[in-house]
Amino acid sequence: MTQHLVIPDRSARIVGGDPLAQRRTGWWRDAVIYQVYPRSFADANGDGMGDLAGVRSRLSYLRDLGVDAVWLSPFYASPQADAGYDVADYRKVDPMFGDTADAAGLIEDAHALGLRVIFDLVPNHCSDQHEWFQQALREGPGSALRKRFHFRPGRGLSGELPPNDWESIFGGPAWTRVTEPDGSAGEWYLHLFAPEQPDFDWEHPAVADEFRSILRFWLDLGVDGFRIDVAHGLVKAPGLPDLGMHDQLKLLGNDEMPFFDQDGVHAIYRSWRPILEEYAGDRIFVAEAWTPTVARTANYVRPDELHQAFNFQYLGTPWNAEALRDVVDQTLDAMRPVGAPATWVLSNHDVTRHATRFANEPSSSTQIRTPGDRELGLRRARAATMLMLALPGSAYVYQGEELGLPDVTDLPDEVRQDPSFHRQAGQDGFRDGCRVPIPWSGTAAPYGFGPVEGGPSWLPQPQSWAELSVEAQTGDPTSTLELYRSALAVRIKHPALGAGDSVEWLDAPAGALAFRRTVAGGSDETGADGATGASGAFVCVANTGSVPVRLPLPGRPMLSSGAEPVVIEGPERLAEIAPDTTVWWTC
Ligand code: GLC
Repeated sequence: MTQHLVIPDRSARIVGGDPLAQRRTGWWRDAVIYQVYPRSFADANGDGMGDLAGVRSRLSYLRDLGVDAVWLSPFYASPQADAGYDVADYRKVDPMFGDTADAAGLIEDAHALGLRVIFDLVPNHCSDQHEWFQQALREGPGSALRKRFHFRPGRGLSGELPPNDWESIFGGPAWTRVTEPDGSAGEWYLHLFAPEQPDFDWEHPAVADEFRSILRFWLDLGVDGFRIDVAHGLVKAPGLPDLGMHDQLKLLGNDEMPFFDQDGVHAIYRSWRPILEEYAGDRIFVAEAWTPTVARTANYVRPDELHQAFNFQYLGTPWNAEALRDVVDQTLDAMRPVGAPATWVLSNHDVTRHATRFANEPSSSTQIRTPGDRELGLRRARAATMLMLALPGSAYVYQGEELGLPDVTDLPDEVRQDPSFHRQAGQDGFRDGCRVPIPWSGTAAPYGFGPVEGGPSWLPQPQSWAELSVEAQTGDPTSTLELYRSALAVRIKHPALGAGDSVEWLDAPAGALAFRRTVAGGSDETGADGATGASGAFVCVANTGSVPVRLPLPGRPMLSSGAEPVVIEGPERLAEIAPDTTVWWTC
């Protein structure tokens, strides 16, 4: 049985007065940000679909978990062709999730608990039901509205071929031909994702104006920042050149693409930054930018652009000490010159949960279809999380990972909703597996996700999830939930864990990595709990191998993701760390 060492005092997290005002500025530099996938978090009205009222009702759980902020995936008016990443009205909450008052109330409640709130912004494309696109279709070729999208005549004798050879991320051509108002087969429009998600043409000033206005709409409501969807995709290479011979596109690729990571995107973010700065409260942007290298990612977080960018290179790194050390070094080296914090992420709504990725053989795909060795995967996932939470910078946690949830790999085809599942006979369309509603309590589905036992949930939950519920894990010191709570409590109490921009690597045996974290001389900026940076040094040791490793005793063990380390007495005191285990030490 795995077990960890201490459950530290969490009371330090709870402060009197205005909790947000007491947090230091630059909160985002070492924040732990929790991703809520609203469809699957909590369903207050019992229709089987999560909603904003559900999120509101569970905010105290997130506060007690010890995160700093919540990022919500889209809840805007949408036909849900891509689970809300197809937005029909950027200023409206979809009735399925609630209304604007719910969004405002959620922000207010979160702030009262000391939590920040980040919304998702989807600027690369909208829904084909968006008013502009509908009007563009009605008005026909050459119309002003068509210029806000990428409409082009087709190639071939009668325009029967797509304008170029780009493929959609979800499979099939990235172009769809429209039927013109007179009934003829007409122009084609570009959609990097599903046909229901037409790409905006960001060269058009009306598009830029509209998004600046949308930013202000939600900033006025009090939101603390935005996660920018497909931040690397807004600008396409001039002339939309053919790609030539190329494999089917993947979001996480290493190749340069004429539709991703074009230098022109940076001008957009430079125009957004001053808008955020006009608002009080240290608000932020985080980029979803899949770029070929961490160095390219760093371009998005230059001082006059965005604040953070997800570190997908880290997410894609296997559970291997050498590879992890490399990616940590590359990340810190890339971020230091631009002065941005590193970010770390292991799971999100687009990739197989890390408890299942690490249960399988390493793969270049982020979508795994086999459960693998569940016990091994969970052991590694817990160790990987503790490693992540010991690194300098900001960390992202995806709902349910704190429960150690695996991906649901055996969902019946008929319940799957991922648009790419249906577009290419299932290839890479397995994102529903990480989107199954999370279990809160009880012994029968929907395990407290909805209000009524036996009530619906939009994706079925496995029977085995009763024992993974929040209720079942609370108070069990061996549970993954209590491990997260403990690790986050330590992080709050000891800012050394997230602060700074470097780690001091220590010698470690093959298969393991070890580093020290210190904050020299403390900090003038005092955290809400009164802790300063002068709280000493930490050592983090992660054994990614399948045999125990020994190294000189680094200090006093504080928290372990698994078995307690064994102290071996001798001329030199040694610590033995179990396989697939991370241990934090104070010294
Ligand atoms: C992002 C989202 C993903 C969505 C895609 C298209 O990658 O995270 O869920 O399908 O953009 O909007």
